[in-house]
Amino acid sequence: MKQQAATVADHSAIAAAAAILEEGGLVAFPTETVYGLGADAENPAAVARIYQAKGRPNDHPVIVHVAPGAALDYWVTDIPPEARQLVDAFWPGPLTLILKRASHIPDAVSGGQDTVGIRCPSHPVAIALLSAFKGGKGGVAAPSANKFGNVSPTTAQHVRDEFGLDAHDDGATDGEACSGALLSTVLEGGASQVGIESTIVDLSRLATHGPVLLRPGHISAQQIADVIGALPAAPDQAAPRASGTLESHYAPHTPVTMLAQAELTAVLAQLQARGVKVALISHALPALPQSQCMLPADPAGYAYGLYAALRDMDQTGSDLILVESPPQGAQWLGVNDRLRRSVFGSAGIIASLLNN
Ligand code: TXA
Ligand code: MG
Repeated sequence: MKQQAATVADHSAIAAAAAILEEGGLVAFPTETVYGLGADAENPAAVARIYQAKGRPNDHPVIVHVAPGAALDYWVTDIPPEARQLVDAFWPGPLTLILKRASHIPDAVSGGQDTVGIRCPSHPVAIALLSAFKGGKGGVAAPSANKFGNVSPTTAQHVRDEFGLDAHDDGATDGEACSGALLSTVLEGGASQVGIESTIVDLSRLATHGPVLLRPGHISAQQIADVIGALPAAPDQAAPRASGTLESHYAPHTPVTMLAQAELTAVLAQLQARGVKVALISHALPALPQSQCMLPADPAGYAYGLYAALRDMDQTGSDLILVESPPQGAQWLGVNDRLRRSVFGSAGIIASLLNN
């Protein structure tokens, strides 16, 4: 597992970042799941800058991040008891709730839908930023701090890599490149401890659809059922669109394929005999003679290391990233969901590499 020896943002860096947000600027900040690219959720021009910096279609809704103890009814309406129960059980933490939005939430945040995603993160730097911003009464709209479709960042360096910023860019100077001009402040917070995005539960249509699990994550469907007494269902056709649910997402530039251990060893030998350069992400297979990243064989440890592994293996100049399929099962749902999306579009890649 990689640990970043980062100096965590101090009080003055956090105060400066809160001021930038209040002026309508963008700030990247750590959360326990992944780093977010934040803007004042009540300032439509600021939210528009997020879309511009990410290169993201502007009908995609973003999550509003609030400080611990924030007034939920300022942001959302028709709050069912289940929402309060989940807030009490899991906030601050990696759970996003979709609820009916309050009328003052800009369309730019909700993607024009009548709902909004809201979450209170547990990372101390995120909490400090949200508490400083508008005296703790504001909301920070923030998607993951990556270019649209790319792997989400789990360190401040990943964010700088995504947006072409120098390590010393800390808000004091303007970034150089086009997106750097929009984003110049990245708050340090070390490596995100969860490593994959928050669990999203839609409670906005409880009466007709029950709770719906829009995105699996560290907090499992069973943990949610234990609190509200109902297991969230998978999204149906009518569920509002979540960009993390697009088939192709979380994708490195190198094609990614997943294979079970037995098949993987044989395919790897064939590929190497052909001179194909393969980078391997494994959790059980022992070290093999090529670029390799070994992740822990438990779901939390695996999730923690997954995005950094994809980024590292993407840097090896390989023709293919081969992932040893992780175990199935409820605890592995989040990891398998992200991997399934990162392999999207790579079907047939092994055959074509072998035939070249
Ligand atoms: O862990 C996380 O949730 C991270 C950190 C930064 O908090 N954020 C994150 O944001 O993953 P993003 O934008 O990359 O993914 C948020 C997902 C998207 O798939 C978006 O479509 C969905 O949440 N979403 C937001 N508001 C929604 C709404 N009103 N209805 C349905 N989906 C919504
Ligand atoms: Mg994202």
